[in-house]
Amino acid sequence: MRRPLIAGNWKMHLTPSEGAALATTLRQRIGMRSDVEILLCPSFVALQAVSEVIRGSEMKLGAQNVFWRGSGAFTGQVSPPMLCAVGCEYVILGHSETRGRFGVNDPDLDTSVLPYFSETEATLNRKLCAILPHGLKPILCVGETLAEREAGHTESIIRAQMEGALQGVAGDELYDLAIAYEPVWAIGTGRVCDADEANRVCGFIRQTLRDLYDDELAETVRVLYGGSVKASNAHTLLHQPEIDGALVGGASLNAEEFEQISYCAPKR
Ligand code: PGA
Repeated sequence: MRRPLIAGNWKMHLTPSEGAALATTLRQRIGMRSDVEILLCPSFVALQAVSEVIRGSEMKLGAQNVFWRGSGAFTGQVSPPMLCAVGCEYVILGHSETRGRFGVNDPDLDTSVLPYFSETEATLNRKLCAILPHGLKPILCVGETLAEREAGHTESIIRAQMEGALQGVAGDELYDLAIAYEPVWAIGTGRVCDADEANRVCGFIRQTLRDLYDDELAETVRVLYGGSVKASNAHTLLHQPEIDGALVGGASLNAEEFEQISYCAPKR
């Protein structure tokens, strides 16, 4: 049985002390739960502070990105061993915001900045291959833009994203992989994907794992949904058979909301 994973992606929010305060509240409320896995993904600078707060609880720590080299002259980058040293267990990879595919609905966004965030399948593949030997668990984000969906390309985009990121990686290295289906048009927009449709696409992701690898891996990997998840829609989403959890952005910054979302997960 796949244990539900409820992950909070704090994005570029909360200073170390603010993050520690939120983590302290969450620890008191849901820190010892074992029926669901609760994961907090603060910014790099808040990882240490949050790590200290959640130590000794059941909660897990994750990073929002990583660089693929272990050390060296790579200004501004953070390596897999550095993440391990602060207690990270997970790393989010390929979020649409690091792929430079975000902000289409934001009227204030200067879209000329998007190429600076252009993560590719090749860089993601390097990152994935770099973290696995350190025991870090990838949460690989995939998903289509609205234009891609309307053109009927949802499945082909997702399959290409999966094939690119997983290229050359053996199935027996991927038992701790989670894949988050995050339709770009649903992220931060309040426009949640319909639960039936999210379930269908998550099923497609599982089928793709079956095609690329085998049944056993497909049945083991957790497939999450992400994109405007909140307490009011989480129950329906999390009760879909192909959805094993949620990657929560905005709503994870509110302790009560995040707690309520965690209680929407079915006991499996
Ligand atoms: P959102 O973000 O919940 O704020 O839509 C989800 C995500 O980007 O992971």
